[in-house]
Amino acid sequence: MNLRALLLALSLLLGASPGHAQRLSLDRGWLFQPGDAAPASSPMDAYEQVKAGSAGGAAGREFDDSDWRHLDLPHDWAVEAPFDPKANMAQGYRPRGIAWYRRYLRIDESERGRHFELQFDGIATHAQIWVNGHLAHRSWSGYTASHIDITPYIRYGDALNTVAIRVDANAVEGWWYEGAGIYRHAWLIKRNALHVVSDGLNITPQPLSDERWRLPVAFSLANSGAKAASAMLEVRVMDPQGRVVAQRAQRVSVAALGKSSVALPVELKRPQRWTLEAPLLYTVSVSLKEGGKSLDEVSLATGFRTLRFDADRGFFLNDQPTKLQGVCIHQDHAGVGVALPDSIWAFRLRRLKELGVNAIRFAHNAPAPEVLDLADRMGFLVMDENRNFNAAPENMAQLAWMVKRDRHHPSIILWSVFNEEPVQGSEVGYEMVRRMVAAVKALDATRPVTAAMNGGLFTPLNVANGVDVVGFNYQVDDYDRFHKLHPRVPLTSSEDTSAFMTRGQFETSAEKKFNASYDDDAAPWGKTHRDAWNRIAARPYLAGGFVWSGFDYRGEPTPWEWPAVSTQFGIMDLNGFPKTAYYIHQAQWIHDRPVLQIAPHWNWPGREGKPIRVMVMGNMERVRLSLNGRVIGEQAVDKALMNFFSLPYEPGRLEAIGFTSGREVARSVVETTGPAVALELLPDRPGLQGDGRDAMPVTVRALDAQGRAVPVSDAKLSFQVSGAGRSIGHGNGDPTSHEDEKGPTRALFMGLAQLIVQVQPDALSGEVQIEARADGLAPARLRIPVLAAAARPSFVPPEAAPVTQLMHWRISPPSATRPDPLQALDAKDMNTWGWGEPPMQESDAAPGWRVYRTQFTPRKDLADGKARLRFLNITGRAEVWLDGQKLGEKTSSEAGPFDVALPAGNVAHQLRVLVQGEGGGKPAGIAGAVELR
Ligand code: GAL
Repeated sequence: MNLRALLLALSLLLGASPGHAQRLSLDRGWLFQPGDAAPASSPMDAYEQVKAGSAGGAAGREFDDSDWRHLDLPHDWAVEAPFDPKANMAQGYRPRGIAWYRRYLRIDESERGRHFELQFDGIATHAQIWVNGHLAHRSWSGYTASHIDITPYIRYGDALNTVAIRVDANAVEGWWYEGAGIYRHAWLIKRNALHVVSDGLNITPQPLSDERWRLPVAFSLANSGAKAASAMLEVRVMDPQGRVVAQRAQRVSVAALGKSSVALPVELKRPQRWTLEAPLLYTVSVSLKEGGKSLDEVSLATGFRTLRFDADRGFFLNDQPTKLQGVCIHQDHAGVGVALPDSIWAFRLRRLKELGVNAIRFAHNAPAPEVLDLADRMGFLVMDENRNFNAAPENMAQLAWMVKRDRHHPSIILWSVFNEEPVQGSEVGYEMVRRMVAAVKALDATRPVTAAMNGGLFTPLNVANGVDVVGFNYQVDDYDRFHKLHPRVPLTSSEDTSAFMTRGQFETSAEKKFNASYDDDAAPWGKTHRDAWNRIAARPYLAGGFVWSGFDYRGEPTPWEWPAVSTQFGIMDLNGFPKTAYYIHQAQWIHDRPVLQIAPHWNWPGREGKPIRVMVMGNMERVRLSLNGRVIGEQAVDKALMNFFSLPYEPGRLEAIGFTSGREVARSVVETTGPAVALELLPDRPGLQGDGRDAMPVTVRALDAQGRAVPVSDAKLSFQVSGAGRSIGHGNGDPTSHEDEKGPTRALFMGLAQLIVQVQPDALSGEVQIEARADGLAPARLRIPVLAAAARPSFVPPEAAPVTQLMHWRISPPSATRPDPLQALDAKDMNTWGWGEPPMQESDAAPGWRVYRTQFTPRKDLADGKARLRFLNITGRAEVWLDGQKLGEKTSSEAGPFDVALPAGNVAHQLRVLVQGEGGGKPAGIAGAVELR
């Protein structure tokens, strides 16, 4: 028995191999190549390439990727490409195409016997994933995670494992910008052979009475080992303060390659509630233990809250009426496309919180898991939406995946099975939705299911008949009609508004492709921000609304097309800079503090004496406007329509003062500035975490001599980020900008630009230095300290350059006399010679020879004539022939290493190794790996 077999037997004897469950980030160390790879070229290639583990080209285990680009995830290649007026407008005029990623993994010999899973949280859009040349997975939705059991394909020790991914981003699933590539996180999960199945844990809290709650704690166990395995299973529930409040244990055993469903429900009395103001989270952990050692552990956070949609009175959270002040958002941000660092998501959600949003609809797909964690922690209500409306098995699996992954999140209050489907008014739509609703309910019966309908509501049989809460997209004139006809059906607006504004612009111009920011412009199917909300606010039976949209997004450029490349629907622009819609909604939605804002800015040279329309947005009782100390007027605040004044322009200071009960409660000023003289850099936070991935937006402004921000500056920046950080992209919110989002230059648009800086992967401390320059302006410098922080657990560093191992060999039958090592083999002869990979040894009774043959093309970095062809172990005398030339001869019959110089050239080589065995049952052959180094 060799050592490997001994170890295997030992680990099986112990029931399971040792070691905790590990969730290792696989974001670092990828190789990337745009374009597609060549297919199989000869009949022989074709025969081999369809065999297990033998995928060819870039899909293969061995492939020359030495000149591929090195990068880290998340990655979106579409945002790196220039805009192209001929490219798909829906995708933001950005060519997408096909590209490949590869990565190497070393799995130690000591880990044999564990269960290994690759996880990709999202790849846009279609992906095929090979592991060591085995096609291990296909992913047909850019919004669904891939969980891939790679245990059977793994090679241990120095033989590196290859992950190869072909991404087809020509496929589209949406009419908005979807990006291209591995744009969410990637993970390598190492578990015990007996383990908790990923995404299988159901802890969704169920209220039994006012006081008592039940956590189902139901999940699946699987055993990838070769023998039955058993362990102690422990369930622990921790309250928000970290105290264990419930515990259960039970012995479990699972047959080899078996699965078993387990439920250890737990009841809690009067748990602390999850609310929007205090989003308290409990943790439920399930662990497998043996002899006091943890074999596997899965933990999830959850929260306790009740929810109810009432047909007359709208939505209730914990029995409190709560109007949904929601926004719909897509997932792209300035500079980074859809590849957002988690901290940029945190920034976006914080901006929404400041705006007064309490509900988010992630349109039209489930978001990255970290985004839902943020929603839980920050206190948002979420509509989690399925991408593809289809009752076919593959799509039902996508739907089930979403519910299983997400049902523990207290933030989620609604599952949405679709957005605007043409069959929604038909029996077909009804039959499909019925099945999808049932599939959701089977996994989570605690939440209602909705569908975002933009028609079909009044046909005899339609989707509204099959869902719990009917979602209205637009159709505002039908709210009352539907409610009257169906007084028992709960309703919400699932999408409304669709109004247009360009940040900082106050004139609508078809020529410039800009919209004024006075909230006058709306799509024919939509309403202005004010009108849309006023109709919702006035109807208690409507649970609330979801403004289209929280942020501008790339693609679907509306209302203007090229050169406009993004939409103008956002309450904020692509960077999260507020438009006036932001203050309109603050006035409508914020009730616990005064908010007051004036639009427009007050820099209108050349407009002296001409009337300027001024909009004041406030939530107090009265507002007084004055210009240069002179009162212009005072009005009762109109929170529905906002307050408007008209006054002749005169440079200076325009001031609004807000009063409640006769007392001043807020003040807001816009001032005419002088010309810009200097740049300013404003960090979003005082420091960056040294965790290898933290990122933050840095605002760039131009200041006048008195230090006031110049709201109309279009200064052209060049900037540099150095030290412990780097720039990962930038933007300015101009929907018509075609600037490169990655390079070292960027113009301000209406006074603002945003740089996104990220800590260097290995920088644990130090500082990020940013310097920005523009002609005629004093430069700005900013230092952002990098604060010591725990790096993401068990981060996997990128592997060193891979060692080429020659794997695919043909082996001749034995011959008693020395055969010609160069003898021909018919390309179609798959049978007279054997197939193998090292170690390849025979213990023949009679002395004799065998020829081993293979072909290979060295990687470019091994083709310089300095590399060696290394046989780690040849047993027997041997001759090594390359391309018809004898390169060397091993004269000893003892087992041992042997190597020869590899001639220069990045060409296909034919390798023949003639090994002479002594017979008598003594082993002979290529007994160890064959490597190029
Ligand atoms: C809706 C649709 C959204 C977006 C919006 C623009 O019909 O659901 O995805 O296209 O219109 O107004």
